Amino acid sequence: MSRPWPARVRITEVGPRDGLQNQPQAIPTAAKAAFVRGLVAAGLGDVEVSAFVRPDRVPQLADAAELFARLGPAPAGVTYGALVPNAKGLERALAAGVGKVAVFTAATETFNQRNVGAGTREAIQRFGPVAQGTKAAGLALRGYVSVALGCPYEGPVAPERVLGVVEDLLALGCDEVSVGDTIGVGTPGSLARLLAVLLARVPAPALVLHLHDTRGMAVANVLTGLEHGIAAYDASAGGLGGCPFAPGASGNLATEDLVYLLDGLGVAHGVDLPRLRAATEPLRPFVGTLPGRVRQAPPWPPAATGGA
Ligand code: HMG
Ligand code: MG
Repeated sequence: MSRPWPARVRITEVGPRDGLQNQPQAIPTAAKAAFVRGLVAAGLGDVEVSAFVRPDRVPQLADAAELFARLGPAPAGVTYGALVPNAKGLERALAAGVGKVAVFTAATETFNQRNVGAGTREAIQRFGPVAQGTKAAGLALRGYVSVALGCPYEGPVAPERVLGVVEDLLALGCDEVSVGDTIGVGTPGSLARLLAVLLARVPAPALVLHLHDTRGMAVANVLTGLEHGIAAYDASAGGLGGCPFAPGASGNLATEDLVYLLDGLGVAHGVDLPRLRAATEPLRPFVGTLPGRVRQAPPWPPAATGGA
């Protein structure tokens, strides 16, 4: 491959959190724990396990503490992360034994109001004590910027607005900022324009792409990210996902689709595709058909020819 792809990509598996947060049917905590264990067995070392948000706002993740308790300490080399919206969430997350904290805000005021009941600036101010408490506990801190490529309430979003929020999150002490195409409207064109603005001010290793596949653009957008030197991607096993406060949001980039793409490009990632397929088995009675394209296709190359 003549292009300068990153040699290795880090995948943050967000299936247990983003993948499940909007599922209509209650999923037993035991099934979620089996899912997380399966993901780890497949080689995923950075797993966003749940969210310590208001249980009445996201009932599917109301069992966050119980899930962490059931999982026990993360195996060596594995990090169990969680979304944390405020000081109360951090208190709950630390008590549960969280390994990485993710604060989340958005590039537009309207989305942020709908999602967390505060404007972007107010939300970032709220994160001050969360960031301090996370650092004091010696944990990694991630920041999310939602609706970076388009907002369901405000429409297209100027890259400069995204840059402002990314810089605020880095100033807060975030070790990485995950830039979210929450409703999957981005294309390689709009993403390239956004990355040009971001990368003029922010080093590539500080950035992660969090792509939803609503319009089938996620894999193409990963290629654009790779071309710009971005070496960290969020993905959700089976392609589950969606945000309850973002009308039209559907599944994340499927981890299987990302792995298949990276395999084809010769980019290392450390994930075993057959084991990843197996990881979603405990969810099957509760989530129906998994939307990921690779997940739905027969294994390739066929086992009879020596493939998986
Ligand atoms: P609020 O109502 O403004 O909070 O919620 P408050 O401080 O006014 O407190 C009100 C009540 O909530 C109090 O209880 C608090 O104790 C309680 P009361 O005294 O009335 O009995 N409370 C909490 N309880 C448990 N855990 C907490 C907590 N905080 C307050 N952490 C808040 C503000 C942000 C908490 C709320 O709006 C919320 O939970 N929102 C949910 C947001 C969410 O989870 N969105 C989906 C995830 S974001 C996403 O999907 C996008 C992403 O994937 C990236 C992308 O795709 O772009 C990350
Ligand atoms: Mg998301």
